[in-house]
Amino acid sequence: MRFLGIETSCDDTGISIVEQNKDLIISYIYNQLKDHISYGGVVPELASKKHLEVIIKLIKKTILKPKLTIKSLTVLAYTAGSGMFGSLLIGTTIGCALAYSLNISSLAINHLEGHILTPMLNNKVCFPYIVAIVSGGHSEMLLVYKLGVYIRIGKTIDDSVGEVFDKAAKLLELSYPSGISLSNIASAGIPNNYRLPYPMQTKPTINISLSGLKTLVTTLLKKKLKTTQTKADIAKALEDTIITVLLNICNKALASNNVNRLAIVGGVSANGSLRNYMKVLMKPIKGAVYSSDIKLCSDNGAMIAFSGLTKNIPIKTIINKSLSVLIKPTWNLAYNIM
Ligand SMILES: Nc1ncnc2c1ncn2[C@@H]1O[C@H](COP(=O)(O)OP(=O)(O)OP(=O)(O)O)[C@@H](O)[C@H]1O
Ligand SMILES: [Mg+2]
Repeated sequence: MRFLGIETSCDDTGISIVEQNKDLIISYIYNQLKDHISYGGVVPELASKKHLEVIIKLIKKTILKPKLTIKSLTVLAYTAGSGMFGSLLIGTTIGCALAYSLNISSLAINHLEGHILTPMLNNKVCFPYIVAIVSGGHSEMLLVYKLGVYIRIGKTIDDSVGEVFDKAAKLLELSYPSGISLSNIASAGIPNNYRLPYPMQTKPTINISLSGLKTLVTTLLKKKLKTTQTKADIAKALEDTIITVLLNICNKALASNNVNRLAIVGGVSANGSLRNYMKVLMKPIKGAVYSSDIKLCSDNGAMIAFSGLTKNIPIKTIINKSLSVLIKPTWNLAYNIM
């Protein structure tokens, strides 16, 4: 079985092919960074227009590069939510239409489930595990009880981790993509030259609050000369604080659920220091840390194709005989126990 994954929930057009034995054959991403940069953020109408411009070309490239034929596809998995309506509409319509024309099955996939399951592509994962979703739009802690059973045990009460990295990078006048730029300059920062408070750390909850951190960065920058070293030191203080806060809630989540397996997923999980500290956290409890290949931390088609694959649905039962499409801009995946 060969799954084609289509991801268009935000501003990345991701197309991938994953085989049933979890072999990732190929993965292409068209990133719209340069199209939105002058607007200072993602413009939804422009994002859907760009998806439309590139998606067919990208599907052709994905199939033809490994010299496959379109007829060799068995299932088409597409992101149906959550995400921006216009962007989802493009991927969903193309996915369903292509599946219809090939008379193959199409599967609507939840974007967040894609992120959650990505570490399974390159790790032998055991259940249950705690997953920290640290992306541009989400910062959530889930207990992954088994495939398809996700229990939300904590989340941010304001900004997501990616949002804080992006907003702070803007204040530090760093180039886009912001998270990586901030992390890069932080590597030249002097540890503990600045100290930021750890929000909500004394509370027993697994929730976090991060919006105050960017206010602190603003205040620091007003007081200091913006030299390269000052910026690096502030970036270092912010990165260290975010990592400490994340390690703390991961610790609480692991202990309160009596689990010793932890996964980190989403764009911020590409952060090298965070990945290293997660390993350090798990060492004393002899636990496992699962993360995905760096290239698959941000949005991609492979996570969508792979999520489709894990459904194990008899493929003939999901052939869509109608031309209707399913889009869920808000699609809650997990049970809440908070
Ligand atoms: N090395 C890094 N260090 C810190 N942050 C990073 C790094 N690389 C990427 N990021 C951040 O990851 C975020 C993007 O992640 P991702 O693509 O998973 O988010 P998204 O798909 O927009 O959101 P969601 O999946 O929640 O809808 C951005 O905020 C970016 O700054
Ligand atoms: Mg995402």
